Amino acid sequence: MTTLLQDSSRAGASVGLKGDRITIRGGRPLRGRIEVKGAKNLVTKAMVAALLGETPSVLRDVPDISDVRVVRGLLEVHGVKVTPGDEEGTLLLDPSAVESAHMADIDAHAGSSRIPILFCGPLLHRLGEAFIPDLGGCRIGDRPIDYHLEVLRQFGAVVEKLPSGIRMTAPNGLSGTKVELPYPSVGATEQVLLTAVRAAGITELRGAAIEPEIMDLINILQKMGAIISVDTDRVIRIEGVDRLEGYTHRALFDRNETASWAAAALATDGDIFVGGARQAEMLTFLNVFRKVGGKFEIHDDGIRFYHPGTPLRPVVIETDVHPGFMTDWQQPLVVALTKAEGVSIVHETVYEQRFGFVDALVDMGATIQIHKECLGGQACRFGQRNFNHSAVISGPSKLHGADIVVPDLRGGFSHLIAALSAEGSSTVSNVGIISRGYEKFITKLEQLGADFVLEG
Ligand code: EPU
Repeated sequence: MTTLLQDSSRAGASVGLKGDRITIRGGRPLRGRIEVKGAKNLVTKAMVAALLGETPSVLRDVPDISDVRVVRGLLEVHGVKVTPGDEEGTLLLDPSAVESAHMADIDAHAGSSRIPILFCGPLLHRLGEAFIPDLGGCRIGDRPIDYHLEVLRQFGAVVEKLPSGIRMTAPNGLSGTKVELPYPSVGATEQVLLTAVRAAGITELRGAAIEPEIMDLINILQKMGAIISVDTDRVIRIEGVDRLEGYTHRALFDRNETASWAAAALATDGDIFVGGARQAEMLTFLNVFRKVGGKFEIHDDGIRFYHPGTPLRPVVIETDVHPGFMTDWQQPLVVALTKAEGVSIVHETVYEQRFGFVDALVDMGATIQIHKECLGGQACRFGQRNFNHSAVISGPSKLHGADIVVPDLRGGFSHLIAALSAEGSSTVSNVGIISRGYEKFITKLEQLGADFVLEG
C-alpha cells in the first residue's frame, strides 16, 4: 500500500510525507505532552449523522486521520458540502443538496473503511436508496455485516447483493421495529440509531452496545431533534421523528489513542501527558494500568501517565464490550506487559484474530504464546472454535530492534512502541496504516523525544 502520510514536518509546516517506512533507534523514554482530539470511532459516525439533518452541522475536534478523509469523500460524492470551520479541527457539514452518487465515485472508496455501511439508514431516508461498496477496515477477524443487513431488513429495506457491493432500497419507507442483537455490536447499534431516528414509529433495541462513543452519538442525535432513551440492561428506545436539524458538537476525546500513548509511556520507561483525556471514560483502563504498576495523575485538562521506576507487574485481563477492557487497548498494553516481571494473560473475546501482531514482538525477543483455549477468564464465543485468541506473555523481556511490517492499525501502533522500547535500530514499514487512526503521530513522536528517521 502506498499511503500519503499527512503530518507536520520537523519545521512545523503541513506537508504530505510520501513513503511508508520509519527507522527507529529505540531505548529512549518518551517524555512530554501531546493532545488527543475527537475519537475516530465517534467522529466518523457523527459525520454520517449530519446526513440526517435538514440544516448544516458543525463538528469540533475532528482529527486529521485517513478514516475521516474517507468519510468526507463519501459524503461529498453524495452532495454534502464539507468545509473547514472557524477553529482548527472543525468541520462544517451541509447536507442541503444530498443526491444519489455515481456508482464509480462510491466505488473509489471501496475497501478503505467500514464506515460506509452506516450510510445505509440515512441515505435510505434521504434518497430512498443506498449503494455500499466492499468494506475495508483492519483484518482482525472475519468482521461480517450480517447484523447490519438483518437490522436494515427489519426496518423495511430491500437488500440486493451485487458483485461490486450492496444495493438497498426502501420502497415502502422505513418503519420502527423491535431488534435484538446476538452480540452488543458497536456498529450494529449505531446502524439501528442512525436508521431508527427517522423511521416511522418506535424502535426498541435489545442487546445494544453502550460504549461512550455510542452515548456521544446519542447526544448528537438528541441535539438534532431525536427522542432516544437508554434503559438498563442494554435496552435503547427510539421514537422516530419527521425532521432532524443540524447539530453543533465537540466530539468525545479518543480513548483508544489515549490508552495507546499511556502504554507507550509504560513500555519506554517514559512520562506522557495526554491533553484532552478524561477519567470517566478511561476508568477500566486506568484500573488495569494501575494493576500493572503504572502511575497516573488526573488533571482538569488531561491525564499524565508514567512509569513508576520500579518493576512492572503481570496481569490477567479479558477484553470485552463496554464497560469491560476494550479490545483496542490490548495490543499496545501487550508491549508493556513484555516488560512486566512474571506471566500475564490476555483473553481476547471481541475479535477472533487480534494477536497477529505478536509475531513481530516474538521476533524482537518477547516470550509470548498464543492459545486456542479461553484462558484467564470465562469461556467466550471463540472457545473450542480453533481461534488463536488467548495470549500468555512471560516477562521481563529485553526487546531488540527488528524489521517489521505493520499489519493493522492498533497492531501497528504496538509495533512502533515495541521499536521505541527496544535496544538498537528497527525499521517499521507500512506505517501509513497508523494514520488511519492516529492524528499526526509522527509529530507527536517528535514532541515526545523519539529518535527516528522517516524514509521514502
Ligand atoms: N459482528 C458480527 N456481525 C456484524 C457485526 C459485528 O458478527 O454484523 C461481530 C464482529 O465480527 C466482532 C464483534 O461482533 O467479533 C464486535 O464487532 P463490532 O460491530 O462491535 O465492531 P465494529 O463496529 O466493526 C468498532 C470499532 C472497532 C472496535 C470495535 C469494538 C469503528 C469504526 N470500529 O468496530 O475499532 O474495536 O467497535 O469496540 O468504530 C479500531 O479502532 O482499531 C477498531 C477496530
